[in-house]
Amino acid sequence: MEIAVIHFILLGVISGLTKGAGVLPDGPLNAAVGATVMFTTTLTPSDKPFLSVVWTFGTKNIITSSIVNKTGPEYEGRITLFMSTGSLELRNLALNDSGEYSVSIVPDGEPVKGGSTTLKVLEPVSNVTATASSTDLVEFNSSVRLSCSSSGSSLSFLWLNSSSEVTASDRVQLTDGGSILTIVKVTRYDQGPFRCRVSNPVSNGTSDPITLSISYGPEDINLTISPSQEYHVEGSDITLSCSAVSRPAALFHWFLNGDLLSDTGPELRMMNIQMSQSGNHSCQAFNSKTLRSETSQPSAVSVLERISGAFVTPTTNLMIEGISVNLTCDAAGSVFTRKWMKDGSDLTLAGNMNLYDKNKVLSFNSLKSTDSGEYSCKISNPLSNDEAKYTMVVIYGPEHVKITGPSEIHLGASFTLTCSADSTPSATYTWILNGTEIHNSAEFTKDNAELSDSGSYTCQAMNSITERTSTAVHGLSVTDRSGGLSAGAIAGIVISCLVIASAGGAVGGYYIHKKKINNKAPPHSDNKEKEENVYENTSEVYENL
Ligand SMILES: *[C@@H]1O[C@H](CO)[C@@H](O)[C@H](O)[C@H]1NC(C)=O
Ligand SMILES: *[C@@H]1O[C@H](CO)[C@@H](O)[C@H](O)[C@H]1NC(C)=O
Ligand SMILES: *[C@@H]1O[C@H](CO)[C@@H](O)[C@H](O)[C@H]1NC(C)=O
Ligand SMILES: *[C@@H]1O[C@H](CO)[C@@H](O)[C@H](O)[C@H]1NC(C)=O
Ligand SMILES: *[C@@H]1O[C@H](CO)[C@@H](O)[C@H](O)[C@H]1NC(C)=O
Ligand SMILES: *[C@@H]1O[C@H](CO)[C@@H](O)[C@H](O)[C@H]1NC(C)=O
Ligand SMILES: *[C@@H]1O[C@H](CO)[C@@H](O)[C@H](O)[C@H]1NC(C)=O
Ligand SMILES: *[C@@H]1O[C@H](CO)[C@@H](O)[C@H](O)[C@H]1NC(C)=O
Ligand SMILES: *[C@@H]1O[C@H](CO)[C@@H](O)[C@H](O)[C@H]1NC(C)=O
Repeated sequence: MEIAVIHFILLGVISGLTKGAGVLPDGPLNAAVGATVMFTTTLTPSDKPFLSVVWTFGTKNIITSSIVNKTGPEYEGRITLFMSTGSLELRNLALNDSGEYSVSIVPDGEPVKGGSTTLKVLEPVSNVTATASSTDLVEFNSSVRLSCSSSGSSLSFLWLNSSSEVTASDRVQLTDGGSILTIVKVTRYDQGPFRCRVSNPVSNGTSDPITLSISYGPEDINLTISPSQEYHVEGSDITLSCSAVSRPAALFHWFLNGDLLSDTGPELRMMNIQMSQSGNHSCQAFNSKTLRSETSQPSAVSVLERISGAFVTPTTNLMIEGISVNLTCDAAGSVFTRKWMKDGSDLTLAGNMNLYDKNKVLSFNSLKSTDSGEYSCKISNPLSNDEAKYTMVVIYGPEHVKITGPSEIHLGASFTLTCSADSTPSATYTWILNGTEIHNSAEFTKDNAELSDSGSYTCQAMNSITERTSTAVHGLSVTDRSGGLSAGAIAGIVISCLVIASAGGAVGGYYIHKKKINNKAPPHSDNKEKEENVYENTSEVYENL
């Protein structure tokens, strides 16, 4: 009877209270199935025992404690009531323990106190499992769906990409409360590992990682040639290497001038290369997963033979002035350039010279004496060079025959007349006085001159190869002590003067008569001969056929 009265009072008090208010904290309280929860009141322990404490779950009695204790049957052994504060411990929680809990406390001599709060009993997170629609993917081509499942209640999901949380973007979608991660058009950077983390207020769990295998490439194909030079000498070994960014590793094929070679693999070794292997090499990388391929830029391999055995050959060895001759420069090997030099300097082409056939032939159309000299021809390619020399001696002359020596000497003195001429080979000289040969070398010397040594001295120069001769005349008068001229000397001078007058009126000189013995092929025209009439200090020279 007494208990019924107290109940009645308590119900009145409780109905006047707002939820979560009073002596209990705001809810809800979360607890896992099987766990223990403590409903702690805000009351401070007091020495005076409460007159009564009543706990209810919804409308069910949990415990009513006053003079006697009455515990609801479902709570036998699961609860502990702390009398000093009115707090209640509830153990071995089940899902149907979720709901509203209320307490009503009647202290001794104080107003009735009450409160209520909500308990949420949650199934803990377990068996968190992540699965992928596929883990073998192609970059830019595949989309993948990662699904997460878990036991437990009030679950929330998040995905980890390695250690950072995945956030949604235009190609990353999170659906079904975050339990499904869809990556549209994966990139190579999306390999993860991805893990799913599931949590509720009482526990959490993380799945095993999923690593995606994303195939990509080939790209950034790179063909290198080692040794890295533009030209390779025949017989050497070279290696072509091809690389590409690719997963899985690319397969390589090789092309020479666009034709598929039988070689495969990232390295193409060419031993003892031949000139026929010159050309544009390229490689192609193929990815068997992405089915994509990429071909390198062509790389030129030029195989050259070393230059050796350079030579210069003339069309004739008899280099006579006026003839045409060709010097041919050649060598074994891959000839790139030929360069001619003369006497150690770059050759300057004179008017009678021409170069043909990419400098292979140096042609002289009418040899001149000044063409003599040492010719060299340097043949080069980027790997080697060789040089050949040819010394050209132009046979010509004699010309410019000249006599030096006195014109007048005293009786008894000695004199020397010297004859010179331009000639290759050197001329041989013959002296003639009054039509008689008197001497056979360049220099004519006479000691103790006599009056009869006066006269016209003719020097005849002869070239033994051209078989041409050329002459000069020099007048000499021997005077006696009185200083007068001998009769013979005077006569000689008169004759000289007459000859000069008839030769063109030039004064104070002598003329040289040049006679061509070999008249088979006259090398000069009449005009040219006149040009060669050189006026000199002591002699006037002209040629005559
Ligand atoms: C009722 O229970 C409380 C707490 O378990 C205890 O302190 C008190 O003595 C009990 N009262 C009776 C009459 O058994
Ligand atoms: C919860 O359910 C169990 C059976 O599943 C039952 O024995 C128990 O009495 C129920 N508890 C409450 C508070 O309804
Ligand atoms: C995963 O992380 C990598 C690098 O941190 C990033 O590049 C990639 O976009 C991420 N992928 C997703 C789906 O979040
Ligand atoms: C997950 O649970 C562990 C204990 O099991 C806890 O230490 C951790 O803080 C929880 N993490 C999250 C994100 O809830
Ligand atoms: C190609 O490879 C070579 C050697 O590995 C490297 O030096 C070069 O930078 C690469 N070129 C490109 C375009 O990647
Ligand atoms: C190699 O390529 C270059 C430039 O593309 C081209 O001029 C040359 O003719 C090619 N060589 C061969 C042997 O095809
Ligand atoms: C890439 O996707 C296209 C269609 O989107 C498909 O036809 C093709 O086979 C795919 N390539 C690979 C290697 O899967
Ligand atoms: C020299 O070579 C040129 C050009 O090849 C040729 O026309 C000429 O006939 C050759 N001359 C001689 C003397 O061989
Ligand atoms: C050469 O002739 C000149 C004059 O005609 C004459 O005086 C001279 O004696 C002659 N000399 C000889 C060696 O005959």
